[in-house]
Amino acid sequence: MDKVKTILAIESSCDESAVALASFSRAEGFKLIGHQISSQIDVHRLYGGVVPEIASREHLKNLPIIIDQLCRDTQVDLKALDLIAVTRGPGLKGCLLIGLGVAQGLAAAIDKPVYGINHIEGHVLAPLMENPDLKFPFLELIVSGGHTELLLVRAVGDYQVLARTMDDAAGEAFDKSAHLLGFPYPGGAALAQLADTAVNRSFKLPKVMREHDDFSFSGLKTAIFQLVRKHQAVLDIDPSQRAEFCAAIQDAIIDTLLHKLQQALDRTGIKQIALSGGVAANKALRERIKKLREVESFFPSPIFCTDNAAMIAFVAAQRMLNDKLKQDSIEVLSRWPVEEVG
Ligand code: KG4
Ligand code: ZN
Repeated sequence: MDKVKTILAIESSCDESAVALASFSRAEGFKLIGHQISSQIDVHRLYGGVVPEIASREHLKNLPIIIDQLCRDTQVDLKALDLIAVTRGPGLKGCLLIGLGVAQGLAAAIDKPVYGINHIEGHVLAPLMENPDLKFPFLELIVSGGHTELLLVRAVGDYQVLARTMDDAAGEAFDKSAHLLGFPYPGGAALAQLADTAVNRSFKLPKVMREHDDFSFSGLKTAIFQLVRKHQAVLDIDPSQRAEFCAAIQDAIIDTLLHKLQQALDRTGIKQIALSGGVAANKALRERIKKLREVESFFPSPIFCTDNAAMIAFVAAQRMLNDKLKQDSIEVLSRWPVEEVG
């Protein structure tokens, strides 16, 4: 496969409509030509969370606009495409169906194939897009609003989940705590920003379930809820106490992630770690990971940590270059564990 191929990728699994154009070949590797992300956060904030029906309608409205914009900005004609990649799952079914419908409509118009891609695999391979020094096998922590998974990444399509969350995702733990403190949705980044200003640590939260193989954040959520109730008066009026409280929450979530990560490093002897997902933008988490001894850490740029279509194009390219891109039935899948992509 020596000819340079041009790909359009579409991502619409949750509340981000995203598209990307890229070219790739064995000789020249992967080159991102351009990408666009249209976030729906402002629409969903009014409801305190993602409303699936509204999200689907927003994708239907936004995808044609951003595809048109991307083609104009990059001067790429859709007729020049060789293939289209679209997120097939996991995600909100109605949202995935809109992305798939747009992809299939375009593909029919230009008579080119459509390939369905796993969204989590997008997050898994995203750190490789910008970091040529990251080599298989490596450990990866995917921490987003919907997912918390620690993986052993052996090769393209060969992923072993070492731990995943049994209840809330790490981003959800940040967002739900932020909600209890009155931050507007999603709140995780704002809570983290305030936490980083804390000078002291006067609040204590319990250590979260360490014996179990998987992650769990629901116990922490209950502890935070009780502590907020106890200290509500002071948290409402004292900014420094509020910052210290946020720091306690941030520390507790990061401690849980780091504990399992350290166990996996010890068990596997692997020396490279990659981070991905929205919470990978968290400064304190990055700093703690960078301090791990004898380990090299890799982080995507913040724009590629959160949901984007460049990572979907990248997965399709890597799969095609490794003869692993399948064009079987592309029904959407709201549940699709990444270790099952094959
Ligand atoms: O990957 P993402 O954009 O969407 C999902 O697929 O879920 O992740 C969004 C999540 C939200 O929960 C958001 O609050 C969280 O990532 N997040 C952060 C930070 N920036 C985004 N959490 C903690 N610290 C941050 N700096
Ligand atoms: Zn995601």
